[in-house]
Amino acid sequence: MTIGILTSGGDAPGMNAAIRSVTRSAISRGWKVIGIRRGYQGLIEGDMYELGARDVSDILHRGGTMLYSARSKEFTTMAGLEKAKKNLDNAGIEALVVIGGDGTYRGALDLSRLGVKCIGLPGTIDNDIVCTEYTIGFDTAQNTALEMLDKLKDTEMSHNRCSVVEVMGRNAGHIGVNVAAATGAIDCLTVEIPFDLDDICRKIVEQKNAGKTHFELIVCEGIVNKDFTSDDIAKYIEEKTGVTSRATVLGHVQRGGSPTCFDRVMALKMGYYAVELIANGYSNRIVAVKNNKLVDYEINEALNMQKGYDEKLHSVLRVLSI
Ligand code: F6P
Repeated sequence: MTIGILTSGGDAPGMNAAIRSVTRSAISRGWKVIGIRRGYQGLIEGDMYELGARDVSDILHRGGTMLYSARSKEFTTMAGLEKAKKNLDNAGIEALVVIGGDGTYRGALDLSRLGVKCIGLPGTIDNDIVCTEYTIGFDTAQNTALEMLDKLKDTEMSHNRCSVVEVMGRNAGHIGVNVAAATGAIDCLTVEIPFDLDDICRKIVEQKNAGKTHFELIVCEGIVNKDFTSDDIAKYIEEKTGVTSRATVLGHVQRGGSPTCFDRVMALKMGYYAVELIANGYSNRIVAVKNNKLVDYEINEALNMQKGYDEKLHSVLRVLSI
């Protein structure tokens, strides 16, 4: 048996742990493993090499992905897909493990329609893959954001300011709501929950009058655009409340760094599970977490599921920020 492995889309801490797990789980079964560099783009270009057990040494604790990642436009065309399929056939790859987000799964679905056996692992800091409660990289990213928020708190407290902090998550507020709750922010602006900036300003003024001296407001990147930036929000708050406000965009720092123990362990379990699925003859499945247990779904079914948002936590953080 020969399997291929690639990482695609935005990198996430823990992807390396997943690569190591898939590679060594397969090798321990006597299989051959081909690492494909730069996701689907590398597959189209035939950029691949055999991975031995030692090739995945010393990566468990590293962020990023040793296989590199890319978002490939060419892969969304029929010509690109056919090149990819040809390269898989030439390398004798019988099954492909892809690590990434929804875009990666859509690619796997397209390949599976050409007869390629694919297994997907959820890897993205956004935790926005609908079929799973948890994605590899989310825990590290939210802890990185929280660490930055703690640092900002020191300076905002010293200067009696309001920090408006923009976090990643694409169109989802999972990082935002967790760090907002964990840092005691006044609120979290996210697409999932309606908000009124004037209400937030009133709350800040009330609390300032009651003796509170510093504030944080979390802004999820999904609600900002070029005409409504985190800077605009900070300026508006300063104007309306008289509290000096500064915006900080955390950005790609949230994608880097050594994965947490949780991310590593989840990645290892998921990688092993993916190889078990292949060994048992399954294909076109996505590994997911449901009720804290590993499960798997058919790719198409997984892409059509609805993801929940922790509305309860959002209400709780609003109640507690008095
Ligand atoms: O999906 C991960 C993510 O970091 C999102 O949170 C963010 O919206 C996007 O990728 C940024 O993409 P890029 O690295 O292409 O700027």
